[in-house]
Amino acid sequence: MKAILLAGGKGTRLRPLTVHTPKPIVPIFNRPFLHYQIDQLRQVPEVDEVILSLNYQPRRIEEILGEGEGLGVRVRYVVEPMPLGTGGAIRYAGDQLTESVIVFNGDVLTQVDVNAVLKLHRERKAKATIVLTPVDNPRAYGLVETDAHGNIRRFLEKPGEDEITCNTINAGIYVLEPDTFERIPKDVAWSIERSYFPSLIERGETFVAYIDNGYWIDIGTPAKYLQVHRDIMDGRYAAPPFAGLPTGGSWIAPDARIEEGVDFQGPCFVDEGVVVKTGARIMPYSVIGRQTHVEEGAVIDGSIIWPNGWIGPDAAVHGSILGRNCHVGRSVSVVTPSVLGDKTVLTDYSKV
Ligand code: GDD
Ligand code: MG
Repeated sequence: MKAILLAGGKGTRLRPLTVHTPKPIVPIFNRPFLHYQIDQLRQVPEVDEVILSLNYQPRRIEEILGEGEGLGVRVRYVVEPMPLGTGGAIRYAGDQLTESVIVFNGDVLTQVDVNAVLKLHRERKAKATIVLTPVDNPRAYGLVETDAHGNIRRFLEKPGEDEITCNTINAGIYVLEPDTFERIPKDVAWSIERSYFPSLIERGETFVAYIDNGYWIDIGTPAKYLQVHRDIMDGRYAAPPFAGLPTGGSWIAPDARIEEGVDFQGPCFVDEGVVVKTGARIMPYSVIGRQTHVEEGAVIDGSIIWPNGWIGPDAAVHGSILGRNCHVGRSVSVVTPSVLGDKTVLTDYSKV
């Protein structure tokens, strides 16, 4: 059985982080995001191949994931000649398929039991089964209405304020039957949410909901990206390297050097080769990437710093995200919620 990961979006809402790092491989702690999704797909013993549907910066993603060595499943890449939208991408990637396929949006993290979704899909002989999750505000998502028997009655992508009739949304995880793919036009941009799902309802086909009340997040915005790290550190989402640690515990690489006289308050993540100098303060929910140096008197608080950063003496970084190789000068202050692209240089005493 195959799984398709839709990972071709540009990640515009995560810019500038995604200028050099496409969203599917932004690091969550020290692992690319897609590793977490692949871990979840491995729950399904039948899945023997993950097809990555790519468009934006495919090379970068291939370099990071290879053929799936060390991931426990074979990885194949399908690169669209142009962005085909979610529907077009599924058709393009799944054209040769003859059996049910699992599809994930490449930016959602859940603990849904994928085997149970597959079981329901088969029991109901559905054309499509989609996972739903309740949210406070469905505006930014696909609103999905169901009936008492778990059938989908309405699918409305990005509803207007006055169109919100329930709180269940499309969680971005599907089981689909490829015999319907031929109704997706070839080689034009086409949305699974706006066209294909409504077409199932119009035709009266079996279109089933699997409602999951467990953890769910779409990492597509800086606020959500910060949130997912907090959730893993708090144990709300069990994932390495925090899964085995006591609540509130920190993960510190064996070769990281935290000098005497550092005020260190977990939970935090400190990666390989990090140096934190005397008098610095590392406050809760900080993630300090590989080889980053935090100088005397600097404060890192609730922030994520990607590898190879330099945080100068007495600088302070609060509630922000810094891309790779950022240089934060002496006494600089970076406040909530700044997002700095790779190689940003902040001159001494700047305020951001
Ligand atoms: N290959 C390919 N080609 N992938 C694409 C393309 C494309 O042209 N466009 C988008 N994708 C991928 C994105 O990379 C992402 O992983 C996924 O498809 C969904 O696109 P988003 O841009 O993240 O959509 P969204 O977050 O606004 O809405 C979608 O996800 C919500 C849940 O997070 C919809 O599926 C909503 O219905 C859903 O509620
Ligand atoms: Mg999204």
